Amino acid sequence: MAENDDLKALIRTILDFPKPGIQFRDITTLLLDAQGFASAIARMAAATRGPVDLVAGIEARGFIFAAALAAPLNAGVLLIRKDGKLPGATIAEDYALEYGTDRIAVHEDALAPGQRVLLVDDLIATGGTARAAVRLLRKAGGLVEQAQFLVDLPDLGGADALRADGLAVDSLIG
Ligand code: PRP
Ligand code: ADE
Repeated sequence: MAENDDLKALIRTILDFPKPGIQFRDITTLLLDAQGFASAIARMAAATRGPVDLVAGIEARGFIFAAALAAPLNAGVLLIRKDGKLPGATIAEDYALEYGTDRIAVHEDALAPGQRVLLVDDLIATGGTARAAVRLLRKAGGLVEQAQFLVDLPDLGGADALRADGLAVDSLIG
């Protein structure tokens, strides 16, 4: 299995995307590497604490990791979508991004009360997206106690903010 340093080498940094001053961590190169992607999923599954009922992935890059983790964790997949994409009645949360603002939503009946949810995304930066996702999932009745990310940008403080919200947070690259 690839070491975490090997995974880090599979990610590239693109300067000034999507705005000047942003160092964009591009994970598409890791996804193209069969062993690297498989290794990332195996490590995220191994780091998961106890059984979960659902893996919640944040659109769009989070879907890739949530879907791949569902089978090894014997869990369903809950899609946290950008607002306006889900067909049923939804609840939504607004949040600030490193480079803009956005709104995410889930179907209001996606969760049975007390279902254990693992939150997953490719990357945590400021934590605005993940923290909004936690608020949303908790509002929908979920028990959200842990989150997994492929990449953490620790200087931006998102993982620590999420820990302050009461979650156990793991990342493979940071
Ligand atoms: C990226 C990334 C996280 C979020 C992290 O998503 O996939 O969801 O930003 O940033 P934060 O911790 O500062 O909130 P983006 O909104 O760019 O959407 P995408 O997955 O559709 O590219
Ligand atoms: N999402 C928020 N900040 C990001 C960054 N620096 N690289 C990739 N995705 C991001």
